[in-house]
Amino acid sequence: MAGEASTKPPADSEHHEAQTPPPGEPINLIAFCCNWCSYAGADLAGVSRLQYPPNVKIIRVMCTGRIEPEFLLHAFELGIDGVLVCGCHIGDCHYISGNEKAEVRINTLKKLMDMIGIDSRRLRLEWVSASEGTRFAETVKDFKEQIEKLGKNKIYIAQS
Ligand code: FES
Repeated sequence: MAGEASTKPPADSEHHEAQTPPPGEPINLIAFCCNWCSYAGADLAGVSRLQYPPNVKIIRVMCTGRIEPEFLLHAFELGIDGVLVCGCHIGDCHYISGNEKAEVRINTLKKLMDMIGIDSRRLRLEWVSASEGTRFAETVKDFKEQIEKLGKNKIYIAQS
């Protein structure tokens, strides 16, 4: 049963020391984009042939207010080095205040991340409208550079 597997303590062979990743290993980024603005902005960047780093995977959600903090922490557990959350500008959310709720959650989560040893700069919230393809591309480029300076996500390395 699935419940039994999750409560079983890990075997000794599953414990590993943190280690430095091989030089040049690419970083992994994901971007949660709300359906109504930011996903369309990312799409516009694509159809406009704007260059942005290919090592970002986009996950479409209906609204940033739908993103549970657990989703973001789980991404770091799975080895993602940086998580970008993109939503409608304040006042433009299609669910009225989903982005405002997301902002509060993410600011709280950033404090928690620093407390538990995950650099909160690995998580970034940005507002990107459907007409801001350039802003999306520039945000991804800037975020990638920031995460490259921080290096690989050591939480994942310690678990692998
Ligand atoms: S619909 Fe875009 S942030 Fe809510």
